[in-house]
Amino acid sequence: MKKTILTAAAVSLFMVSCARSNAVTGPKYTSSEKLSQGKTVFENSCNKCHNLPEPTKHTDAEWIETLSRMAPRAKLTPDQHQMVYDYLISQN
Ligand code: HEC
Repeated sequence: MKKTILTAAAVSLFMVSCARSNAVTGPKYTSSEKLSQGKTVFENSCNKCHNLPEPTKHTDAEWIETLSRMAPRAKLTPDQHQMVYDYLISQN
């Protein structure tokens, strides 16, 4: 029984570390198509709990940290998270 719990804990730790490696760590998209998709996701998802923040509110590096807290709240997919990040820093 203990072994099962330990295995489950190990598996979920493993999954968490995989999810982390998917996280946004820097710019990726530059095409205007991806950036405008990022803008749409941002405008539709980031004003549910508060007013839309100004993209200039944070530096590129700070947006990595803030957006990794907000993307799960807005239930963004990793790709949407990336597009929103690239949109924000393109406005910065
Ligand atoms: C489910 C609700 C919710 C959604 C959706 C949400 N936020 Fe937030 N946001 C919060 C709360 C609560 C705070 C204040 C507490 C905190 O800072 O964690 C906050 C604070 C902020 C702040 C100010 C704090 C800081 O570090 O500057 C920014 C900027 C921000 N959110 C950006 C965003 C962006 C961008 C999105 C879209 C990806 C988003 N939020 C979506 C709940 C949400």
